[in-house]
Amino acid sequence: MTPNDLDALLRETRTFAPSEEFRRQANYNDESIYEEAAHNPEGYWAKQAENITWFHEFESVCRWDPPHAQWFIGGKLNAAYNCVDRHTLTHRKNKAAIIWEGEPGDSRVLTYDMLRREVDKAAHMLTELGVKKGDRVTIYLPMVPELPVAMLACAKIGAMHSVVFGGFSAQSLKDRILDAGSKLLITADGGWRRGKVIPLKQNADEAVEGTPIEKVVVVKRIGEAAQAGMNPTRDVWWHELMENAPTKPFPAEPVDAEDYLFLLYTSGTTGKPKGIVHSTGGYLVGVNTSMRTVFDLKDDDVFFCTADIGWITGHTYIVYGPLSAGATVVMYEGSPDYPDRDRYWAIVEKYGATILYTAPTSIRMFMKWGPQYVEKHDLSTLRLLGSVGEPINPEAWMWYHKYVGQERCPIVDTWWQTETGCAMIAPLPGIVTTKPGSATKAVPGISVDIFDDDGNPVPPGHGGNLVITKPWPSMLRTVWGDDERFRKTYFGKFEGIYLPGDGAYRDQDGYYWIVGRLDDVINVSGHRIGTAEVESSLVAHPAVAEAAVIGRAHEVKGQAITAFVILKEGHTGSDDLVAELKQFVVEQIGAMARPEEIIFTADLPKTRSGKIMRRLLRDIAEGRVVGDTTTLADPAVVEQLKSQYKDQE
Ligand code: WTA
Repeated sequence: MTPNDLDALLRETRTFAPSEEFRRQANYNDESIYEEAAHNPEGYWAKQAENITWFHEFESVCRWDPPHAQWFIGGKLNAAYNCVDRHTLTHRKNKAAIIWEGEPGDSRVLTYDMLRREVDKAAHMLTELGVKKGDRVTIYLPMVPELPVAMLACAKIGAMHSVVFGGFSAQSLKDRILDAGSKLLITADGGWRRGKVIPLKQNADEAVEGTPIEKVVVVKRIGEAAQAGMNPTRDVWWHELMENAPTKPFPAEPVDAEDYLFLLYTSGTTGKPKGIVHSTGGYLVGVNTSMRTVFDLKDDDVFFCTADIGWITGHTYIVYGPLSAGATVVMYEGSPDYPDRDRYWAIVEKYGATILYTAPTSIRMFMKWGPQYVEKHDLSTLRLLGSVGEPINPEAWMWYHKYVGQERCPIVDTWWQTETGCAMIAPLPGIVTTKPGSATKAVPGISVDIFDDDGNPVPPGHGGNLVITKPWPSMLRTVWGDDERFRKTYFGKFEGIYLPGDGAYRDQDGYYWIVGRLDDVINVSGHRIGTAEVESSLVAHPAVAEAAVIGRAHEVKGQAITAFVILKEGHTGSDDLVAELKQFVVEQIGAMARPEEIIFTADLPKTRSGKIMRRLLRDIAEGRVVGDTTTLADPAVVEQLKSQYKDQE
């Protein structure tokens, strides 16, 4: 988000109070919940933990030894039992747990009872393949029902899953397998995206070379169309193993509340992605609570989250949140514009979705396509809308409100991160008056603030570093294999205070307005990408001597990647080389990291100590008057770049 957008945000004065009708039916409609939770956060969380089934009750709620927190100490539970088995003992036994739709139009419904059978068979299968409690299983699947089944089967055994988004390249998958030390990989012969096959198995074959992976389980998604090329000693078909797996129930492994549930990689400020580690008890209590508070979930809701399970939003709001709460969740495999631009709306109508959770980048795309695609469908079942992934600009918020919510549905703009596990700043829709563009305030039980660089809280009407001042149940426990990085990244700036890396502003009413990342992380269409990751992939190309990558404001994507590249002696910039470098980054990282533009330059603006001045590069790319250049080693570089940028546009 550019500073101009912040100005626009701060001029935003529209407010939307919950309707009397919504307020009356809401799970929470009394403001006192905020005060009660603030007064006694541990008591609040202990009460929320009653919604989870514990095999053994916890003895104490929280131990805080900064930066390490433990929650629900002594408690024993199983996440898969909570998401599946326990519902089969209730009226939910034959309720739809997952309604899945494939991109080509095929669909599957798994009731809680059916899901229980699938998860148990998969847990038997994984056990027979040698997976044990504490092992890491890497999962590289498209959005098919086998993905949540595989995750829950790991959880049932007490093994950790590490899901790698299907858009990642072979190299990225390999890096993540190596870091996690997985011996088993679950993938598919392909996935559908815009009518084309994503070659997951080919990537997987390349990725597992030179890793500890011993077995690759392959889900048949594409069938005849794909050349899965099975390696007879290493690869096994999922469906064959499942057919032969015992059908008897798999006993859920009672794990300690602090035992790890999963790891999920996310980008940081260095080239190496971080394996964010989540615990079982705290994570589950956190995500389950937010279903009832932020999403006002009721037993008859149909919850449609458009995220991919390869990201935290899908982990939390397709798998563990809705299923632990016994909800019906809609899961869609493909692209929103296939076969036409009304696909999401067709899905909402077809399955009667009541809650829709999507990202600002998608909303801006829908705006660009025009309201006719929304208007073609009956969206009268919708009662609540959510937004996540990046700051939502008021214009997109208003469009979402008007065309999708038909001025009837409250919007919950939810700020959170892979590291926080679940929504942290978001309105409770039956209580909080919303303002377009503001995530409003911290959810009950969460303490946030804004600090200046010296660690002092800023008064209302000011901006600074967003911080979380107290531990919370679903906070990350560490960075996999690198506790020092965990300590430094999140607790290195202010002692005992969690630093998310986002800038925020607080208005006179105490509402938070998230401005965007303060570090070298770019948010492209809601995907976190480290500038250092893209830079190191560019310099791996034989023609590139040096690269500086920045995010510039982009109408639909929020931010787009601009790369400034210095070529090695003997190479000259050309359109072909631009195309080649873009493709090179895609192959190294994945399609979401493809630079929007590449600018060849002879030099980069650097401080006298040799640091690249990204702020200046951003100013150039966004066409603003260039800011202070007094610390530049060679101010002429900027002038030169500015004119070059114009020429290449
Ligand atoms: C950004 C996604 C503003 C933010 C759940 C954060 C947001 C990063 C919002 C985390 C929001 C997410 N308003 N910014 N509602 N939601 N962000 O780990 O910069 O993929 O730090 O988690 O996305 O991205 P992540």
